[in-house]
Amino acid sequence: MAIPHKTSQDVTFQGYFIKEGTTVFPLLTYVLYDESEWESPHTFNPSHFLDMEGKFIKRDAFLPFSAGRRVCLGESLAKMELFLFFTSLMQRFQFTPPPGVSEDELDLTPAVGFTIPPSPHELCAVCRQ
Ligand code: HEM
Repeated sequence: MAIPHKTSQDVTFQGYFIKEGTTVFPLLTYVLYDESEWESPHTFNPSHFLDMEGKFIKRDAFLPFSAGRRVCLGESLAKMELFLFFTSLMQRFQFTPPPGVSEDELDLTPAVGFTIPPSPHELCAVCRQ
């Protein structure tokens, strides 16, 4: 979900009339789970962001920071931090499910709230030599 906003004037949006002063809760899941945009919107699928040669591609429907005038101010900082955080971990550790649990058994159902975070998991982080 993006941050709620109040309309500053009467608006007609996609055929719907929205009165001035109405609080609107934009649901980013509408575009992030859009079946006409994503090959498998309900599955963890890094290939959504890779071309035929395995190179990164930007997808217009990937809008976790929202869009427009009130787009997240911290977008570039957050992307940089996430890149550094995850690449450091991936370079140093190999992540696997705990002993006795297969990858197929992992429950990737997210916890639902204002954001949709992954549910807690136990895992093994094995140091790469
Ligand atoms: C993965 C991390 C982050 C995500 C997914 C995220 C996502 C969002 C979203 C969806 C909005 C609402 C945009 C809208 O109202 O349409 C927002 C607003 C905002 N975010 Fe972030 N954010 C992240 C990190 C950060 C960081 C690190 C900062 C600051 C250091 C930040 C600062 C802000 C601010 C100031 C706004 C309000 C912008 C405005 O209303 O004009 N965010 N963010």
